[in-house]
Amino acid sequence: MTDSAQTLPVPGAVGKLYDELTLNAMKDGTFNTNVHIGYWDSPDSDASIEEAMDRLTDVFIEHMQVDKGSHVLDLGCGVGGPGLRVVERTGARVTGISISEEQIRTANRLAAAAGVAGRAVFRHGDAMELPFPDASFDAVMALESFCHMPDRQQVLQEVSRVLVPGGRLVLTDVFDRIPRTEVRHPGIEKFCRDLMSTMADVDDYVPMLHRSGLRVRALLDVTEQTTLPTARHLVRLADLGERPEAMVESNFAFADDAFHPADLAGVESFGCLLVTAERP
Ligand SMILES: C[S@@+](CC[C@H](N)C(=O)[O-])C[C@H]1O[C@@H](n2cnc3c(N)ncnc32)[C@H](O)[C@@H]1O
Repeated sequence: MTDSAQTLPVPGAVGKLYDELTLNAMKDGTFNTNVHIGYWDSPDSDASIEEAMDRLTDVFIEHMQVDKGSHVLDLGCGVGGPGLRVVERTGARVTGISISEEQIRTANRLAAAAGVAGRAVFRHGDAMELPFPDASFDAVMALESFCHMPDRQQVLQEVSRVLVPGGRLVLTDVFDRIPRTEVRHPGIEKFCRDLMSTMADVDDYVPMLHRSGLRVRALLDVTEQTTLPTARHLVRLADLGERPEAMVESNFAFADDAFHPADLAGVESFGCLLVTAERP
């Protein structure tokens, strides 16, 4: 199945989806400053889902290699949790961009509450056409946002344009972890439909990065550390009758057959890639 065979997300509609998810989560108490999967270093790790979500941001920090002199772009910044953690842990300045106005309002409120509004600034915008001059960032991080963007190649070109020479891009993306067939697992279909996403083809990544003028540093299959244990944790918590904050993404006022994290439990073909690249 090629990208063009998948329904392409429309940025405006993705923005409205995240507006709704953010407002719903604030209303029903499931609000979380991280809107992403967790990262467990090993199968016997006993980290909670909250700890594992922060750990994913820390893995990004390790790969970006930034410090207090750096300016980082958080591409698809959510409500700012990862960006604020980068500010706190590295001292870097962070600019975040999201297609959801509601997320941006919330992220700037959280930055002010944390007393770092001068180092963390969030603004509304579309990653397909970044509102920044060439070579304006030392690093770009994109935690789980590429899957919502209608043209990965165009976004990578934009990222390459705004990075300084030597600057790094770190991203996670979902990909088909088994050879593609016309029929996907129904859980993946629901994920793509209800979360307005497409699955990447791992074979496309290196050519896309090269066409964008980026050099590959690492391309890792982190499914065993991320998507598989995240689904396992969410299902276990739901079985215990708990509604973890991390279930924000399952909070839909949709039909009965709406996507739920349980749909992806044990689905080995729902892969997660961790990509690090660099502008030469
Ligand atoms: C799963 S959330 C991840 C949020 C954040 N990175 C985190 O880890 O908490 C996906 C994010 O991508 C953003 N996004 C999706 N498409 C976008 C686009 N075309 N331009 C800018 N942001 C976009 C959404 O608004 C949302 O903030």
